[in-house]
Amino acid sequence: MTTDRRQFLKHAGAASAAATALGTRLIADEPAKPAAKKTLKVGFVGVGVKGSSHVGTLLRLEGVDLRAVCDVREIQCKEAQEQAKRLGKKPPAVYARGDRDFERMCAEEDLDLVYTATPWRWHVPVCLAAMAHGKHAATEVPAALTVEECWQLVEAFEKTGKHCSMMENVNYQRDELTIYNMVRRGVLGELVHGVAGYLHDTRHLKMLDHADGLWLGDEHATRNGNLYPTHGFGPLAWYMNINRGDRVDYLVSMSTKARGLDLYAAEHMPVDHPKRKRKYVNGDVNTCLIRTVNGLTITLTHDTDLPRPYSRVNHVQGTKGLVTGFPFQVSLEAGNPHPSWEPGDKHRAKHESALWTRGVALQKALPRIDKDYGPILPGATWAYDPPNELKGGDFLEDYRLVEAHLAGTAPDFDVYDAATWSVIAALSEKSVADRSRPVDCPDFTRGKWKTTPPVVIGGV
Ligand SMILES: NC(=O)c1ccc[n+]([C@@H]2O[C@H](COP(=O)([O-])OP(=O)(O)OC[C@H]3O[C@@H](n4cnc5c(N)ncnc54)[C@H](O)[C@@H]3O)[C@@H](O)[C@H]2O)c1
Repeated sequence: MTTDRRQFLKHAGAASAAATALGTRLIADEPAKPAAKKTLKVGFVGVGVKGSSHVGTLLRLEGVDLRAVCDVREIQCKEAQEQAKRLGKKPPAVYARGDRDFERMCAEEDLDLVYTATPWRWHVPVCLAAMAHGKHAATEVPAALTVEECWQLVEAFEKTGKHCSMMENVNYQRDELTIYNMVRRGVLGELVHGVAGYLHDTRHLKMLDHADGLWLGDEHATRNGNLYPTHGFGPLAWYMNINRGDRVDYLVSMSTKARGLDLYAAEHMPVDHPKRKRKYVNGDVNTCLIRTVNGLTITLTHDTDLPRPYSRVNHVQGTKGLVTGFPFQVSLEAGNPHPSWEPGDKHRAKHESALWTRGVALQKALPRIDKDYGPILPGATWAYDPPNELKGGDFLEDYRLVEAHLAGTAPDFDVYDAATWSVIAALSEKSVADRSRPVDCPDFTRGKWKTTPPVVIGGV
């Protein structure tokens, strides 16, 4: 055992549990390794818009046995059963007896993994129930809402040895994976700065009387900060080796006034509708400035309540050049005496991720059916995924999770990622509430960031 590993176990304070949980990372374009187990038994909690998309993928992946689904709306579970039947699979057991029925599912069902895509405030209770019952956990983003909740996840992992992965699909999108290769290959030199965020006009979603409309607007009516940080922060965390050689030191955060949702509700909702009568408090644009202990900075934006085109910015800057997203462009010093932008596609052939190429091929080979899962929701006329469309990063995140758990290796995302990437929201709320005062980021790894190796993915 190396000194680093010994230190890791000492710090974790739960040597045997953590040792079970550690594993070698798979390199994605290596030939598939023999699976340690043939079947991964999965229970899914929250089969709504996003959950139904995961269920559609899980039901198609070889080795997955979807044993149980849980949702407060039984009709969502029934649809998951129908989806299983359409794909020739045994329908999963249904848990639909209220908002803590996932606890019964975790206690009664023989499962390896519990995966949740509930509204945000249920992510931690579901993950904790899963780990307490000896199951690995996976959650949609963000994993947790408060500093305390982040510690609860970390402590549950260290006590039980059960993984808790926050499933950040954006880390597996095509441009993000291409940039990952460019960074790992040193094309951008030593990284210095990143700009990213979640810039997505979702005003209409908050006004729905189903799906996100039942909970997302509440978050914007009660909190003020960078509420959805992980789509922007996640890829930068991989590029910058956050918790793997570097860590977040502190941030400052500032919010604009909140106007977008009030004006949208006034224009689109009936006068006496609760969604119109309440006051939204989350600033329309929140900006965080994040500094790492190694002296890198990140500007992270949350901008979801004004009319605007979609973007995650995706700007990564180093000593030899930079890339930006939306659209993907590259500017390198080498051979470019008067720096200008080149189309990212010019660099794609050289730096395309093998994982992405493999993911596309794998998806094309999956079973296709005429009617895919679509949420049965009053008034909903759309499903998250049109039938049989390639899901890109959304496919790869589930594929990688299943691959790791079948092989008995560590998933790409660990509990320290879940805590650190999610906590930015809570820290930003604190800073905004106190005139943008700097707020320290807890070291959830308790020093292990100094010795944990970087994520290796995609055959760099
Ligand atoms: N990664 C992405 O790109 C992406 C995209 C969309 C949503 N999401 C995330 O997915 C999650 C769900 O979002 P959504 O758009 O699918 O919302 P949704 O409202 O459509 O789905 C949530 C589901 O959870 C169910 N639910 C609520 N409370 C529950 C409980 N206590 N126990 C069991 N089921 C419960 C609801 O009935 C609903 O079916 C959120 O965390 C969101 O941030 C991620």
